[in-house]
Amino acid sequence: MWCLFLNSKKMAQRIEMQICLGSSCFSRGNKDVVMFIREYLRKNHLDDKVIFKGARCMGLCSNGPNMIINGVTLEGVTLAKIEKILEKEFENLKI
Ligand code: FES
Repeated sequence: MWCLFLNSKKMAQRIEMQICLGSSCFSRGNKDVVMFIREYLRKNHLDDKVIFKGARCMGLCSNGPNMIINGVTLEGVTLAKIEKILEKEFENLKI
C-alpha cells in the first residue's frame, strides 16, 4: 500500500511530452528538436520525470513543427525556441 502511494505521487509529477514526427514537422525541424530534447533530459537528470514520445501528424502541419506538453499544444517549435520552453517547463523539477 505504501509503495502504491509513493508510485502514484511520483507519477503525478511526471511531465508528458509528445513531439510530432509527421513528415511536415519532422522535415521542418522536429528531427533536430528530438535530439536536443533527449540530450537535455539526459544532461539534467530528467529522464525518470518525463514521458517523452513521438506522435503521428497532429493535423496542424501549417503551424508546425508542433509538440504537446501535458496536453497543451505548442506550435512553431524550433531548435532556437526549445531550450527556453524546456527551461520553463522543468524549472521546478531539476536537481
Ligand atoms: S506533420 Fe506535424 S502536424 Fe502534421
